[in-house]
Amino acid sequence: MFKYLIVLVFILHIPVSIADSLATFPKNIDKMLLVKQSVIPGNDVVLPDDTPLFLQETVKMYNWINNGKGTKLNIFVPKNKLNEYKKHGPYSDGITAVAIYEDQDIIFVTEHIAGQPLYGTYNRQGKDLSNSHPSFKTDICYQCHEGYSDICTNGTCAVPIIDIFKNKIK
Ligand code: HEC
Repeated sequence: MFKYLIVLVFILHIPVSIADSLATFPKNIDKMLLVKQSVIPGNDVVLPDDTPLFLQETVKMYNWINNGKGTKLNIFVPKNKLNEYKKHGPYSDGITAVAIYEDQDIIFVTEHIAGQPLYGTYNRQGKDLSNSHPSFKTDICYQCHEGYSDICTNGTCAVPIIDIFKNKIK
């Protein structure tokens, strides 16, 4: 019920600041498909000048994770969502994708209800981490995932271009 209220709030564009995770904790990550492996480089890595602004912002936002040493980032999608994910939606209800910062076991979740994306951050045990760091607050997720609408469609963002980071980490 709470989620439907939130969706209503977004549809009506009422400005709100929400702190708790909106997406539910994914209990069955081990049954999901690994769709992408990428990397957040450490905070000592200088990105090439021609790195798209969007990716620079993402790295800047999250390269404090794992004490700034960089982390593998794996993206998993539930089997029944794979086709929707490939096409960047539109998405049916339920968990859409999870992104795991493997070196610190931080789990980003995107879920859709009634076509609207919901975001959440948890640890492996399902503890809600949304309030544990400013960059984990759900309104920050929306800012980027909805702000870059030419790159992120229907609330999901992954594009192969971020593979340029692969060779940047030891
Ligand atoms: C500054 C930009 C930015 C912010 C803020 C951001 N993301 Fe993302 N997100 C990205 C990018 C870029 C990708 C694609 C990563 C890749 O391709 O390796 C992504 C990918 C994801 C994915 C994998 C599914 C997909 O393709 O979208 C999930 C899940 C996700 N983000 C959840 C979150 C959550 C939850 C938050 C807030 C706690 C958040 N994101 C905040 C930029 C951002």
